[in-house]
Formats: sequence, C-alpha cells, structure tokens
Amino acid sequence: MRHFLTLADLTPEQMQALLDLAVRIKSAWKAGEETPYLKGKVLGMIFQKPSLRTRVSFDVAMLQLGGNALYLSPDEIQLGKRESVADVARVISRYVNVVMARVFGHADIVALARYATVPVINGLSDYSHPCQGMADFLTILEHKGSVRGKKLVYLGDGNNVATSLLYGAALLGMDYTLSTPKGYGLHPAIWDMGRRLAAQSGSTIAVVDDPLVAVEDADVIYTDTWTSMGQEAEAEQRRKLFPPYRVDEQKLARAKSDVIVMHCLPAHRGEEITDAVADGPHSVLFDQAENRLHAQKAILVWVLDKA
Ligand code: CP
Ligand code: NVA
Repeated sequence: MRHFLTLADLTPEQMQALLDLAVRIKSAWKAGEETPYLKGKVLGMIFQKPSLRTRVSFDVAMLQLGGNALYLSPDEIQLGKRESVADVARVISRYVNVVMARVFGHADIVALARYATVPVINGLSDYSHPCQGMADFLTILEHKGSVRGKKLVYLGDGNNVATSLLYGAALLGMDYTLSTPKGYGLHPAIWDMGRRLAAQSGSTIAVVDDPLVAVEDADVIYTDTWTSMGQEAEAEQRRKLFPPYRVDEQKLARAKSDVIVMHCLPAHRGEEITDAVADGPHSVLFDQAENRLHAQKAILVWVLDKA
C-alpha cells in the first residue's frame, strides 16, 4: 500500500512522476476536461490543528476528481484522547478509501499509517509538510522551467516546511541553503537524510548563518512563520531572535534579479515577510496556494493507484 508521509520516502523517479501527474491533471482541469479519476471514492480528513489551504484544497480536489471528502474537526475524533490512534485508523479504514491527517506529533501519522488498511496522507506534522513541498516544487517548475542546479534559500525557522523543502530539493537536484538563528536549525538526523538524498542527485545542501550572505544569487527565497502551530508559548522569545531573517527588499536585492519569493502561508506580515515583498512582483505566494489543489490531486490519484 502507498502512503504519503514524507518526501524522503519517495524515489527521485516517484517525485518526478508525481509532479508530471500534477501538471497533467492541472492542465486537463484548466482546459475544462473532466477528471473523474476518483469517482465514488471518499477521503476522510482528520485535523488536530486549524487549516484553510489544506482543508479546502483537499475537499475541492476530491470533488473535482469525482469523489467526496469528510472533514473531521479537532473536537470530533480527538485522536489519541477519545480513542487510540490505532483504533481510529482501524475504524475509519472501514468507511473511507483514503485518509489525510494533520497532527501534532509525527508519530501519530506513522501510527495511523501502520494500523490503517487504506492509504494515509500527511497533511502536516511537527516533522514534515510533504503536500506543501509537492505544491512548492510544482510552483518552482512553473516559474523557473527546471529546478536542477537552481538555488533555494530558506530563511527563518528550521521547521516542518524547511524539512520537506530540503528533501524535495535533494531528490530533484536543486541546491538548498538554510539560514536560521542559532538553535533553530534542522535536527542532525534530518541533515543526514538530506545528505543521503543529495548525494544521489548531486545537489548541494548548506547552512549559512548570515542571512544576507545566504540569499546571494538565490533563485528562490522561501520563508514561513517563526512560530509553528503548537509552539505558541515560544512566540515572544522567537520574535526577539528572528527579525534579521525577515524577507524584505534588502534581501531580495542580493538575490538573482528574477528571484521568486515563496511562503506556505498563513503569513505574519511584518514579521517573517514584509507587505512590500509579499505583494510585490517577485511574490508567487498565491500560485503556491493554488498549486496545493493540483499537487494533492496527483497525490490522491497516486496513493489510490488510479493514474
Ligand atoms: N500552508 C498550509 O498548510 O496552510 P493551512 O494551515 O491553512 O492548511
Ligand atoms: N510551519 C507551520 C506551517 C503552517 C502551514 C506550522 O507548522 O504551523
């Protein structure tokens, strides 16, 4: 059975095939063609955290593929509290064809996949956000034509999104530079995995402490919230440390002249990104948000083997 838990589980060929499928389904949809790949199929969506993009794009993806989606709010299932994760997985598998879950601890999504008898998709955990990563590489391909040898620079917090970008870049042969305050980088085990993947593709992965040096000659500058869901108690401390990593016009001026700026959203304007950059000519923020829909259609079709 195919689950979709982290990009590091994919081979480079599978990652490329998913992107190709996303391009095909997106252009068919834009051309007004029917795309009933998942006629009669039902997706169960389990959320432990809030969401706009993930919730709406998965729901609409299922509708446009001819199926249906069920939204199960954090109060509904109370994963691991009202019922064990294993029993939730066993029960929901008897009703739906595929499960997407947004959880706090990555161990919960791994447990769901272990006990489910249908495919499980990670809709964000504390460790990774692979659906976001797929949408982001689709967006980079659309704007840059190719990713191999191009330079992606991530500024800010070494979080779930930074991890998925590292894995995706390393799979596809894109160069990846991370710049974070001391103590907010990626776990050494994540770098080990990134290095293993990069060794196969030939991409260069690096940490550069000074954000103004990191962004030199960047093709893509990426940032995300300084405080992820579940870390709210640290927000004040983080607001003191992170301002040098804000994506502003000074950083853009040091990148390539055709640099694109990315953010998975929701944005905290004035913190990790300025209004001028988020709304400026280099921003592709809303293309990324749209591509969640198209990338996730490919993921759904792929895990259900309906391509
Ligand atoms: N980028 C993203 O996953 O957004 P939501 O939290 O709104 O789903
Ligand atoms: N890193 C953020 C991403 C939100 C889509 C978080 O986990 O809250």
